[in-house]
Amino acid sequence: MENPAGSVAVRRHYLMCRPTYFAVEYAINPWMDPAVRVDRDRAIRQWEALRDLYLELGHEVDEIAPIEGLPDMVFAANGGLVVDGRVYGARFASAERTPEGPAYLEWFRAAGFSETREPKHVNEGEGDFITLDDVILAGTGFRTDAAAHQEAERFLGRPVVTLQLVDPRFYHLDTALFALPGDRIAYHPGAFSAGSRRVLESLFPDALIATEDDARVLGLNAVCDGRNVVIAAEAVALADRLRAEGLIVHPVELDELRKAGGGAKCCTLELRPARL
Ligand code: ARG
Repeated sequence: MENPAGSVAVRRHYLMCRPTYFAVEYAINPWMDPAVRVDRDRAIRQWEALRDLYLELGHEVDEIAPIEGLPDMVFAANGGLVVDGRVYGARFASAERTPEGPAYLEWFRAAGFSETREPKHVNEGEGDFITLDDVILAGTGFRTDAAAHQEAERFLGRPVVTLQLVDPRFYHLDTALFALPGDRIAYHPGAFSAGSRRVLESLFPDALIATEDDARVLGLNAVCDGRNVVIAAEAVALADRLRAEGLIVHPVELDELRKAGGGAKCCTLELRPARL
């Protein structure tokens, strides 16, 4: 399964949550406008297409039962951070999403994850933590407290690099940056403070720099399995550049969920197994 870029697709294990109760009833990021009509059936169809795509690509998908009254629960990426089979739980910044933290932790325990950590500090799971081979990149500024970066580092035993987010449209790290094969990344520099941009430049001199247009359609909220990239259909420029690198691009339409500020990655929590 080698592609021209030399990367290999690895079978991934994802957790997702069907948007049965999806709605935009409150606004906790600039994408959300409760006055805008949401077509829930369409959101469900778009979400099902995403799940089916993962299955077609050979990945395993578990589903957590959606809870009525938690319209953002579809954004499973925020439900925790799972590295080496260890689960660092989420603690949401907003009152509206707070019950999701314990709900996800309960799912992990029931699914047999024995090492789980109830967090002391506010953090929104993989929304603000991006796991590479050697380091975990962590966002702060809007949701996750920097203190949670240290908490995660100590619990997971992997180095965590703090990055400062400055643009409210890119309130979670996974709206501005995603992991490519071989410990490379793609990102939108405008989402980061000057200091964090310098950190990214020095750690990732060969990063793929996305445009403002790519970022505005949540093109950075993409999922890469080492060979395939699942990305917002509207992010055409970024898709072309990924193809030029030999990756296989799978455009997905998720504009209904984007009304809540989420894309493909937000709907996807990766369950990384213990290392052998
Ligand atoms: N409406 C949700 C919120 O603002 C969207 C979450 C998107 N998730 C993500 N991983 N970026 O919390």
